[in-house]
Amino acid sequence: MAKVVLAYSGGLDTSVCIRYLQKLHKMDVITATVDCGQDDDFAEIERRSKAIGAIKHVYVDAKEEFARDYVIPSIKANGLYQNKYPLATALARPLIAAKTVEVAEKEGATAIAHGCTGKGNDQIRFDVTMRALNPALKIIAPIRDMNLTRDVEIKYAKEQNIPISTEAKKYSIDLNLWGRAVEGGDIEDPDFEPPEEAFQFINFKNDKAGYLEIEFENGAPVAADGKRMPIIDLIRYVNDKAGAHGVGIVDHIEDRVVGIKSREVYEAPAALAIIEAHKDLEKMVLTKHELAFKKMVDEQWAWLAYAGLWQDPLRSDLDRFIDATQNRVSGTVRLKMQRGSLRVVGRKSRYSLYKNDLATYAAGSTFDQSLAKGFVELWGLQSITANSVADAASKKQQQKGGNKK
Ligand code: ARG
Repeated sequence: MAKVVLAYSGGLDTSVCIRYLQKLHKMDVITATVDCGQDDDFAEIERRSKAIGAIKHVYVDAKEEFARDYVIPSIKANGLYQNKYPLATALARPLIAAKTVEVAEKEGATAIAHGCTGKGNDQIRFDVTMRALNPALKIIAPIRDMNLTRDVEIKYAKEQNIPISTEAKKYSIDLNLWGRAVEGGDIEDPDFEPPEEAFQFINFKNDKAGYLEIEFENGAPVAADGKRMPIIDLIRYVNDKAGAHGVGIVDHIEDRVVGIKSREVYEAPAALAIIEAHKDLEKMVLTKHELAFKKMVDEQWAWLAYAGLWQDPLRSDLDRFIDATQNRVSGTVRLKMQRGSLRVVGRKSRYSLYKNDLATYAAGSTFDQSLAKGFVELWGLQSITANSVADAASKKQQQKGGNKK
């Protein structure tokens, strides 16, 4: 029988997919679970896959690669879609797709499958990456193809004795190292406040203020609170600490690629704290011209990552520009956090463009104020001229009107 490799999370959608692929497509199913830091019970996922009928299960530990090749570039790009969403799900999908393609090639499969619906962004991220990496592999998306809803899936799972976690889950969760997306249930009402129980990392009871110091080298975080640590440990450390002070919730209206507006709730303490610190450090070391241009680049970068165009050459082109700007983004940023608020209270860098002798209002300034007079005159030249021209024109208009009477 022909073989298909299914990107398998162990959840309802992908569990149902195993059986559909066997029954409807008459294929041997190999499941591949890619670990991007979702902290799942991977042994249980393997057991479930086998119980449903997969002929083989493959676990891929991609945490390191996810942090190094996806999360760090996103930090350098201040990756926030629509200025809010730290892209956790969006960044993991192209990597999961790439690993699934690798497994398919190794196993001699003719097709790959995923459990995405036709309503979201993930189908785009999977399909585009898979096709870009190996156009010969056929892509099967059973949930999308059959237009399935969760209720139908649950019914089918029961009929088919597909083991799904029995506890009626209130929300659908997507988790990885960079953040957690909470969807479904009562929070589909955009006017309904997400209850505290929707969150896993946020402490709502802690009133105390806390400080967090993050050190960057060439735009990447390398130490927290004075301790150097590997990137995965650092992200987890910052996540725990910021979450303990209530920092990390994003609740916004998001524009999906397919045109749907959705209410999205995220929990990403590390991402929000690290990006806030990184942005602040950039403001200290980059020129205003670099900052203005990079802002546009960052926005475009986040859009490509969000919209499933990770494989587009523009993304790596932008990465090269961004990397070049990060040569001087080294230094330390101190954050203060309390009851969900996050504020930079200090920063220092050997590349700092802040010069106290220029900025100070106290004695000892080296800034020659007499130069400012002429500069201001030239600076405002066009604005002032435009105003006087408009003024003169309207006076003329009034006079004409007056003459007619
Ligand atoms: N709206 C977010 C995105 O498109 C998160 C989606 C998470 N949910 C999911 N089912 N994957 O990246």
